[in-house]
Amino acid sequence: MVISVVNQKGGTGKTTVATNLAATFAGNDTDILLVDADPQQSSLDWQKDRPDKCPHVSVVGLPFANLHKELGRIKKKYDLVIIDGGGRITANARAAVAVADFIIVPALASKPDAMSTQSFFHEVIEDVAAIKGKVAGAILFTMLKSGTIFNLLGQKQIKDLGFPVFDTLIYNRITYQEAISQGKSVFEHKPKSIAAQEMQNLYDELNGCI
Ligand SMILES: Nc1ncnc2c1ncn2[C@@H]1O[C@H](COP(=O)(O)OP(=O)(O)OP(=O)(O)O)[C@@H](O)[C@H]1O
Ligand SMILES: [Mg+2]
Repeated sequence: MVISVVNQKGGTGKTTVATNLAATFAGNDTDILLVDADPQQSSLDWQKDRPDKCPHVSVVGLPFANLHKELGRIKKKYDLVIIDGGGRITANARAAVAVADFIIVPALASKPDAMSTQSFFHEVIEDVAAIKGKVAGAILFTMLKSGTIFNLLGQKQIKDLGFPVFDTLIYNRITYQEAISQGKSVFEHKPKSIAAQEMQNLYDELNGCI
């Protein structure tokens, strides 16, 4: 099973979601490979900071448009592969979508951000779907600021794409930034935080989808 966390729009929380999920699956005895498909190597950096006492997450950097070929050789060794899709380069983003059994599309809900996510759907996901038949996955709203009118407008625009949307909502919380800078998940950093509960909700909802 390959899950890609993708959106060509920068800074939507791809690395945050990918690293948190990878650590959560590892903590639940899943033999996991986190693939950093982004030349920025943020997931690789996260792993370098990861404390020895935390469950092991293997991370490999594959920022290539021929990701599927590279991955074909190594994915069989793992129960689950999570790809931090990076994605500014369209060919790489397309490869990360094409190779996935399920995609998670972290999206910001302000109106301009929602428009960028719409473009990503039109330029990449619909292209891959035309070849593959269907792209399974769901959009995940991240970094939400509670109750702002912009968020509500953007959420509507994204829901209008007709792609599934996770019920789980990820809000803008400092705990996410603290955890990633220490090579941890939010659960490993602050198990009783609201952020940890949000990630648990995402983990549970995702397991119901895959
Ligand atoms: N839920 C959140 N609450 C607060 N800050 C967040 C949250 N998610 C991500 N961030 C912060 O927002 C910034 C962008 O997040 P992240 O690096 O995960 O996005 P990205 O989509 O991987 O970005 P890029 O396109 O550059 O790879 C980072 O500083 C991160 O710590
Ligand atoms: Mg990133």
